[in-house]
Amino acid sequence: MKQLVSLLHSLIFVFTFSAFSFGVLAQTEVSKLVCEYHTNPLGIDVLKPRLSWQLVSDAQNVKQSAYEIRVAESASDLSKKGEQIWNSGKVESDQSVNVIYGGPAPESMQRFYWQVRIWDNNGKASKWSNPTYWEMGILEPEQWNASWITLSNEPETEDSKPAQYYRSEFSTSKNIKSARVYVTSHGLYELFLNGEKVGDQLFTPGWTSYNKRLQYQTYDVTNMLQNENAVGVVLGDGWYRGNIGWVSANGYYGDTLALLFQLKIDYTDGSNEWIVSDKNWKVSNGPIRKSDIYNGETYDARLELDGWTETGYTETGWKSVKEIDEPKDLLVAPQGVPVKAVEELKPIAFITTPKGEIVYDMGQNMVGWVRIKMKGKAGQKVQLKFAEVLDKEGNFYTANLRGAECTDTYIFAEDGEITYEPTFTFHGFRYLQLIGFDEIPSKEDITGVVIYSDMEPTGTFACNDEMINQLQHNIQWGQKGNFLDVPTDCPQRDERLGWTGDAQVFSMTAGYNFDVAAFYTKWMKDVAADQLDNGVVPHVIPDVLNGQGGATGWADAVAIIPWSVYKIYDDTRILEENYPAITKWVGYMNERAGDDFLWTGDTHFGDWLAYATTQSDYPGATTEKDLLATAYFYYTTTLTAKIAAIIGKPQDAKKYNQLATNIKEAFNNEFVTPNGRLVSHTQTAYVIALAFGILPESMVDEAADYLAKDVEKFKHLTTGFLGTPILCPTLSAIGRDDLAFMLLNRTEYPSWLYPVTQGATTIWERWDGQKPDGSFQDVGMNSFNHYAYGAIGEWLYSHVAGIQVDENNPGYKKFLLAPNPGGGLSHVKATFDSMYGKIVSDWEISNGEMNYSVVVPANTFAEIVLPKAKVAEITMTDDLKSAAKQTGTKVTVSVGSGTYSFGYPIAD
Ligand code: BGC
Repeated sequence: MKQLVSLLHSLIFVFTFSAFSFGVLAQTEVSKLVCEYHTNPLGIDVLKPRLSWQLVSDAQNVKQSAYEIRVAESASDLSKKGEQIWNSGKVESDQSVNVIYGGPAPESMQRFYWQVRIWDNNGKASKWSNPTYWEMGILEPEQWNASWITLSNEPETEDSKPAQYYRSEFSTSKNIKSARVYVTSHGLYELFLNGEKVGDQLFTPGWTSYNKRLQYQTYDVTNMLQNENAVGVVLGDGWYRGNIGWVSANGYYGDTLALLFQLKIDYTDGSNEWIVSDKNWKVSNGPIRKSDIYNGETYDARLELDGWTETGYTETGWKSVKEIDEPKDLLVAPQGVPVKAVEELKPIAFITTPKGEIVYDMGQNMVGWVRIKMKGKAGQKVQLKFAEVLDKEGNFYTANLRGAECTDTYIFAEDGEITYEPTFTFHGFRYLQLIGFDEIPSKEDITGVVIYSDMEPTGTFACNDEMINQLQHNIQWGQKGNFLDVPTDCPQRDERLGWTGDAQVFSMTAGYNFDVAAFYTKWMKDVAADQLDNGVVPHVIPDVLNGQGGATGWADAVAIIPWSVYKIYDDTRILEENYPAITKWVGYMNERAGDDFLWTGDTHFGDWLAYATTQSDYPGATTEKDLLATAYFYYTTTLTAKIAAIIGKPQDAKKYNQLATNIKEAFNNEFVTPNGRLVSHTQTAYVIALAFGILPESMVDEAADYLAKDVEKFKHLTTGFLGTPILCPTLSAIGRDDLAFMLLNRTEYPSWLYPVTQGATTIWERWDGQKPDGSFQDVGMNSFNHYAYGAIGEWLYSHVAGIQVDENNPGYKKFLLAPNPGGGLSHVKATFDSMYGKIVSDWEISNGEMNYSVVVPANTFAEIVLPKAKVAEITMTDDLKSAAKQTGTKVTVSVGSGTYSFGYPIAD
């Protein structure tokens, strides 16, 4: 009997296994449902949200031939025809990304459950997916029943004022069905209900162009309510009125903190109730005496308000709040990615520096703060200071933080041991210094709390060269440290601003490493909001520099980032929504250029931080700004033409194509000699001209030659912010992978690996932030966590590993798997979680044999390009072999979804 059972088992196994692998009976499943790039989002205000899902199947060539979406007010109503809010019907389509909800207009606070099923290319229907939901936020300003409240009579202080603590109590008597808090503030808030922090988001309400758009958050607090309740909210200065930028030291947006809070309770009997911020709330100052993003927090535990977020607290010394009239019509629901404490690190070393400083090494240049267990005596003041690097003697180095104090101060209330972490500040640091301690905490007592916008990691790149792996690590940590609600230049000094140039050059790399769709969608709203009437895009977004802007390569972020998001996520809406801002910017450039189509004479950053020397004959690299400006004018105009065509504006497309043709002609007359030499004979000039396609066909070879010769002459890069991201891609495109890999592998300054040899754990702002002799670059600008040069990441993923998006089939619907071994690498594996699922590209060369394995997600296609291959010599299935195409030394194979492997002898 036993034997029979086991025989049966193995028969079943053989049957299901083979059925699975040949796709005969394999059941495709639908999973990973997202709405507006979020899983089960709460409190959104997108009226026609977009829905995406993934097909899961191990079988090959799985495609979606049709889908059906159904939407209802509850999960159980989904299957009841009469109860559905919307049913798409069976739609013959392979679209599974960003399908627009087509039901009736949503109402405020309405929840929509939805699920989807698909038919595969054999006409076989999947099961219905698990239900998921989205919920609307507050859609009309009139539905804000709450009043803005504030503390009148604030203490006069020179710099930061103390944080403000607000509280109120209320009771509920009936059974609660659901409860939602809608809350925002001027300044940052942290919300508590009955003694517990609500949600795990940090730095709420986030940073937007506050005068035009202010986000509120929605929280489901159904399970936090009791009969008697206390709500407490603490407000800190944050970006709103703390130090930010340098135009006004603080208070850029205003000098009054304020709170807007409302709680809607739905009872099971069908009634509801609102609890709102109003004149009955009480306010006090408390232990946070100072909270500033640049300077840190001062926390006086003697002023703690024990139990202030719980019921029954005695409000001794608390004052009545003042209601103030602040706008509610600029409140928006968040579309981005909330900042959270995502990781924790432990110090790797305890150091007493030559100067006798007590220092801990976190082992990683990180962004956030430390949580510390420490002992002290009543009234004792201790300080925590933060630095990115030690100087050449090994002492704590803070000069590059410029004016940012980056210091957390704690004053003990009583003798004993406590655990402390700050609330409304963050630091960019690897080293922690302790000052004023009697007893030195152990490494165990210290935890690095790493905060960033909690984007889903989507990419991995690993190879057999540990230095390049460290470079990839540094790029990813540069992104973590600088994607803090807005894409910032740096996280440590008195800057931390949304510099547009840095953001645009890094956007494609960013989109390999993490899911940045929602993050950029939100930031682009601020770009559009802060654009000046004449089309100028400010240098930093949110703009805290009074509208300074309009620089070439920086302002172009207005077009380039939507374009990146479109390519990676097949998101046409971001193109549509930003189109007015994009065309306004092109209009501005056109006006500045005038009749000759040359944009000359304006002030720009240019190829920022390009290679420079102090040698008398100056073999550095300065690229003329007029050339760069005219080239970017051309490039952004070509993008605008493409965007116009995609969003159904063929007349505009024609107009911008004509404009581009005019700029191209003007550029070539002005900046290119008849022999294809550019007036700025620099790597940046050539890569820009080649990558942007601005040269006439007849001059491409000459220009390519000049570029190659320049790289050969210097044997290193000479590029700055604008040239660096496209240097290796352009060398590859002109067939000079040898030079691109030479630059990648170089370990002396200037190069990507030089900082790695110096122990860097993030990307540096300068090629020589710290010199081989241990001395530093100019303190005025020397960040050790600046992602711009990390833009090489795109080339690692797309060229070296070979996972390449195709702009004509955006969202990786159809993509290239075209690996390019070189530079002595023998093994590279990259993965990318696309909207359709995981893509894998894994190549290894050993003993002259290339082995290449790939995974192509369901409902997509890939063109696999095998380098240095001959069809006849490749091990692959017969049907693939018969369709394989040989072009020169490359073999191309087109495949549908599935897992494939190829092996062949590869020529050197
Ligand atoms: C920032 C940059 C920025 C640049 C523009 C610097 O202060 O850190 O990354 O792009 O200014 O000039």
